[in-house]
Amino acid sequence: MTVPIYQIGEDFAAAMDAQDPLAHFRERFFFPKTKTGNECLYLCGHSLGLQPKTARSYSEQALHDWAEFGVEGHFHAKEPWVPYHRLLTRQTAVLVGADPVEVVTMNSLTANLHLMMASFYRPTSQRHKILVERGAFPSDQYAVNSQIRFHGFDPSTSLIELTPRDGESCMRDVDVESLIEREGASIALILLGGVNYATGQVFDMAEITKAGHRKGCVVGFDLAHAAGNIPLQLHDWGPDFAVWCTYKYLNGGPGCIGGCFVHERHARAWKLPRFAGWWGHDEEVRFQMGPEFHPMPGAEGWQLSNPPIMALGPLRASLEIFSEAGIERLRAKSRSLTGYMEFLLDQKASPKFSVITPREGHRRGAQLSIRLAHGGRKICEKLANEGVIGDWREPDTFRVAAVPLYNSYQDVYRFAQRFEAVL
Ligand SMILES: Cc1ncc(COP(=O)(O)O)c(C=O)c1O
Repeated sequence: MTVPIYQIGEDFAAAMDAQDPLAHFRERFFFPKTKTGNECLYLCGHSLGLQPKTARSYSEQALHDWAEFGVEGHFHAKEPWVPYHRLLTRQTAVLVGADPVEVVTMNSLTANLHLMMASFYRPTSQRHKILVERGAFPSDQYAVNSQIRFHGFDPSTSLIELTPRDGESCMRDVDVESLIEREGASIALILLGGVNYATGQVFDMAEITKAGHRKGCVVGFDLAHAAGNIPLQLHDWGPDFAVWCTYKYLNGGPGCIGGCFVHERHARAWKLPRFAGWWGHDEEVRFQMGPEFHPMPGAEGWQLSNPPIMALGPLRASLEIFSEAGIERLRAKSRSLTGYMEFLLDQKASPKFSVITPREGHRRGAQLSIRLAHGGRKICEKLANEGVIGDWREPDTFRVAAVPLYNSYQDVYRFAQRFEAVL
């Protein structure tokens, strides 16, 4: 893709917006307002995506059908509830580069992570370690530590953390691969974020999967910050599983139901241990209420419960917008927008801040993580009071993301101006 030659004036931002073929998607989302009633400068889609204007109608349809049909809505609602989750399957599969049989929308991220580890973390005395990135999102750390203990091992000897070199914030690909090469024989599971939540670094998931499998490790990814942010090719890259949430770049709404990928090679792995529930049971005979569990093939066989229909509606609305826009076009705009933000911040270079996200476009998504030398929390709060919404991560990082579905070049320009002023 050709990277535009950025210019410093606001005219450049206005001209870029005028020629942006995706600019009109902004109108499809609600923007929060400041106390004075102006639209916020919202750069927080890496934390909670905005509400698609069509979200309400889907949730209202579910409420309407519930009122109209009661329990019969499972079969007679406008979109019957029993197969409702499948309305999301094809679009989800396209977004993460999977076959439909490999994906399902269910539960929440951490719950899915545990379900996946119940099946795919099978430690032995020789091979019991889990490889994670240092400073992985706390929920992942708690989950892996508790799984290690659950199997009678000790995190102090069964957890390996990938660590950046001294003085660096991000991991080098070559270090990841050499660690896998060195330690792989004792690693049962490699579990990394596809995009690191703190730095915004994108991991080379294809190479990590290859390296892990060469050494006999199971490979899984937490795609909370990757799904809807960068194009993914999960089927071809070949990890064993992946999990993600849908309330960040996927705009499903707070606490929205999560996503899960299980590679096709495990679709009929009936002997794989799993924690079962009736919604994962063969749907042809589910309502015969028999005592024996026969899982459905593919990711659907890991479902536990019937899904919350009202929560699926907003996600469905958002996925429809994604299919119209197309993840490749979104990625091209995203690289350009984030590059523009970096360019403007470079113009304002100061010892008071540094961007810790990788500078290479292919090694980051929409997010830039800005390390603030002093008083970062106050700076972040002051910006928020002015309606400039990013978020603060202890101890020193301010995260912002220009999301290509609804952010503009002028948003980025105004952010850089406000950031400099508050700094
Ligand atoms: C990388 C990552 N993993 C896990 C979680 C936890 O997600 P959930 O609360 O949906 O389980 C989050 C939430 O922000 C996250 O960013």
